[in-house]
Amino acid sequence: MGSEIVIFDTTLRDGEQAPGFNMNLEEKLRMAEQLERLQVDVIEAGFPIASDGDFLAVREIAKRVKSCSVAGLCRTRKGDIDRAWQALQHARKPRIHTFIATSNIHLQYKLRMSKAEALREAVSAVKYANGFCEDVEFSAEDATRSDWDYLSEVFSAVVEAGATVLNVPDTVGYSLPWEFSELMEFLVENVEGAEKIVFSVHCHDDLGHSVSNSLAALQTGARQIECTINGIGERAGNAALEEVVMSIKTRPSAFEVDTKIETEEIYATSLLLSEITGVAVQPNKAIVGDNAFAHEAGIHQDGVLKNALTYEIMTPQSVGVPESKLVLGKHSGRNALKDRLITLGFEPDHGGLQRVYIAFIALADAKKNVTNGEIAAIAARELNPVQSTTETLQIS
Ligand code: KIV
Ligand code: ZN
Repeated sequence: MGSEIVIFDTTLRDGEQAPGFNMNLEEKLRMAEQLERLQVDVIEAGFPIASDGDFLAVREIAKRVKSCSVAGLCRTRKGDIDRAWQALQHARKPRIHTFIATSNIHLQYKLRMSKAEALREAVSAVKYANGFCEDVEFSAEDATRSDWDYLSEVFSAVVEAGATVLNVPDTVGYSLPWEFSELMEFLVENVEGAEKIVFSVHCHDDLGHSVSNSLAALQTGARQIECTINGIGERAGNAALEEVVMSIKTRPSAFEVDTKIETEEIYATSLLLSEITGVAVQPNKAIVGDNAFAHEAGIHQDGVLKNALTYEIMTPQSVGVPESKLVLGKHSGRNALKDRLITLGFEPDHGGLQRVYIAFIALADAKKNVTNGEIAAIAARELNPVQSTTETLQIS
């Protein structure tokens, strides 16, 4: 097992910022409790200056959470930092997370600041935050579109000012994995004091690379990954925690690191978030989607029945999914159908199975899902024609 990286969960901050994912205080507290069970290292609980609701949520989570660090986001303004600290002060392990943009586009059009001004803001914010707590994270918003030399100058200055974590956000999901690993390598080599701090990544999914970018950054020095349950977050979302963690767990020889996530809690956490927000993940979502451990094609079902390793690279139980599903549809084969018939209490011989199979495929061709009740009804009719009427009535 390699050294453990820091899993920083921002479901309650970046995730909650996404349209349709608002949570009230009670819901955020339930999520925070579950995140603690999942054993994330840091819970980013909100952006305290943004609203009274956010402030209260960060304050309550900070008071209740026992084992994780609790972070609150703030811009570099003193008022933001004061408000963040008011919310975080009772946390057992508080972290102030302050940020300012460093890309030319953001400096020119959004902040209307010079590079020198932004650098001064960053340094004074980190110094000010450090007066409240030791753990201060600094994020260079839009880092991946920033000038690398300027980025490393800002990072060096905030390390000197007391930052403990330097976060490299791919704010607009623009980067490609090999570019991200090069940037991380550059920063590890060029930021003064790099050996004293933890490098972090925070990737958005606009081009679908958030998880790959995060993993690529790990290979060249990042030791914290910021992510969310089900990958929720601004626009196309953030790197999905379950995908990051299970990549590391499933391919240990490809990584020098591990996480302390309780992977068996992943599915419950995903379900809780969907229940609270009313937004389900798509069926083909990696790890937690309905189809992640479902097999319909006959060849696959046959393989899984013989040995699940043929088509499953992790066990469903390792992420808290009770079991794999063999979905019976028009692509299914006789072996899976026979297996289901036995589960339903039938004992088809060769000829009987063939009759049931033909009737089943005809039905599966006509409709999307064939239920257990329908399979049992076919079996009752084809395997035992005399009793078919009464048995069909009993199976609903
Ligand atoms: O995407 C981003 O840049 C952010 C920062 C505030 C960390 O969410
Ligand atoms: Zn973000």
